[in-house]
Amino acid sequence: MKALILVGGFGTRLRPLTLSVPKPLVDFANKPMILHQIEALKAVGVTEVVLAINYQPEVMMNFLREFESKLGIKITCSRETEPLGTAGPLALARDTLNDDSGEPFFVLNSDVISEYPFKEMIEFHKSHGGEASIMVTKVDEPSKYGVVVMEEGTGKVERFVEKPKIFVGNKINAGIYLLNPSVLDRIELRPTSIEKEIFPNIAAEQKLYAMVLPGFWMDIGQPRDYITGLRLYLDSLRKKSSPKLASGSHIVGNVIVDETAVIGEGCLLGPDVAIGPGCVVESGVRLSRCTIMRGIRIKKHSCISSSIIGWHCTVGQWARVENMTILGEDVHVCDEIYSNGGVVLPHKEIKSSILKPEIVM
Ligand code: GDD
Ligand code: MG
Repeated sequence: MKALILVGGFGTRLRPLTLSVPKPLVDFANKPMILHQIEALKAVGVTEVVLAINYQPEVMMNFLREFESKLGIKITCSRETEPLGTAGPLALARDTLNDDSGEPFFVLNSDVISEYPFKEMIEFHKSHGGEASIMVTKVDEPSKYGVVVMEEGTGKVERFVEKPKIFVGNKINAGIYLLNPSVLDRIELRPTSIEKEIFPNIAAEQKLYAMVLPGFWMDIGQPRDYITGLRLYLDSLRKKSSPKLASGSHIVGNVIVDETAVIGEGCLLGPDVAIGPGCVVESGVRLSRCTIMRGIRIKKHSCISSSIIGWHCTVGQWARVENMTILGEDVHVCDEIYSNGGVVLPHKEIKSSILKPEIVM
């Protein structure tokens, strides 16, 4: 089986992290977002993943080449010269996706995180005999997503409305599809939207089916949702009794610490914390609801909550960093600084406190 991951877009909502790497390479729970997806695809027998890219393809491919051999899966790049939207890239990769096997293929948005129940999806797809399957999930605020109205029981989709202005329903498109090769015949090679142009047509012909996604789901393309997504991801590790979760008297709730990270004496970590490779957390540090990405030093007695600390930053001693502070790559926060929601661009030194949420250029 094959899969295509939609990797376009500039990831503006996740700046300043996406000023350093394309969005799919931003670390989530200690590894780049896209690796969570590729590993899950590999686990259900996918042999080739096509990355549909229109932005920084070299960065992406250099990084993933290493994982091709590590994971034993072929990763190719389908490069757009102009952004083709969410359907055009499928037409561009037509020859790869439509091989002789006639098998359906997966399509994923690159910024969605879940338990990726691909196995269940394959079974669902086989059972209904339609042309396309999509995963849906319930959310409180459906207006920023694609909304799906479906027949309970069969899952047959009656309507698909992208970003509706008025309330249509609360089941939304989770950005995970399994499509028969025949869907490719519906897509022209031009900038076009699968949500606005392709799915409504398949639904009108009663060949689009939706399955309610078991487990958690989050689009982690914005800082607040990213932090919520980490909580849901760690909760799901807890349910599976994953050995990846840290334990000990200095841990509260769900925490993951990379094996190469060093934690000092007298720290209190958690809940909902991820500490990545090569990080050093000095003594007496308090961390909650935050991501500490990679190669970062958190100095003595500092306190970080509800924040994302990008690669290779340092946070000085007695510093207090909170309220959706996002530090880009290689930011240095001096001793005793307070950051209340600062969004700091890469390579900056913060010498005075940030008292209210603002962007520091
Ligand atoms: N290759 C390529 N080219 N990829 C693209 C392009 C493009 O021109 N434009 C967007 N993408 C990719 C993005 O990188 C992302 O992985 C995916 O397509 C969806 O784009 P987003 O910009 O993240 O869309 P959204 O979050 O507003 O809405 C989509 O996702 C929701 C679920 O998170 C839609 O699919 C909604 O229906 C859905 O509910
Ligand atoms: Mg998105």
